[in-house]
Amino acid sequence: MIDIKFNVNGKDLEISVDDSKRLLDILREDLGLTGTKEGCAVGECGACTVIMNGEAVNSCMILAAQVRGAKVETVENLEQNDILSRLQEAFLDNGAIQCGFCTPGMLMSTKALLDKNPNPTEDEIKTALEGNLCRCTGYVPILHSVKDAVTRMKK
Ligand code: FES
Ligand code: FES
Repeated sequence: MIDIKFNVNGKDLEISVDDSKRLLDILREDLGLTGTKEGCAVGECGACTVIMNGEAVNSCMILAAQVRGAKVETVENLEQNDILSRLQEAFLDNGAIQCGFCTPGMLMSTKALLDKNPNPTEDEIKTALEGNLCRCTGYVPILHSVKDAVTRMKK
């Protein structure tokens, strides 16, 4: 077991976990934040994407010890006071969600992009999402959603 202090969705936490756990396990099993999904478990699908220290990361590839002192944001942080974020609304309104399994990872990769670059080009959006796989939508509605979110955020 190891003790780790870190910040999740704005809350400082101190927890003791098995040192073999990954950030994905800590979020889902220890903190009950099950919005983050496990797909491939080998860093290839992006379903487990969260933002750590400002970067989109695959939480299945981050070991517990690497989380020490980190600032982590999960999909649960997008909704505030029961109101969906403009990014979530854009995904809903553009049909970017079918089974929904990829959606939390898509949203967090997009948020990491827009936090740094609020006016990305289409190529920049595609690059930011290249690590996130979707078996349902064909990606076009997702691309439209991100562009729509950019427009909504300017209002
Ligand atoms: Fe982490 Fe697929 S579950 S990248
Ligand atoms: Fe099903 Fe993307 S909506 S995997």
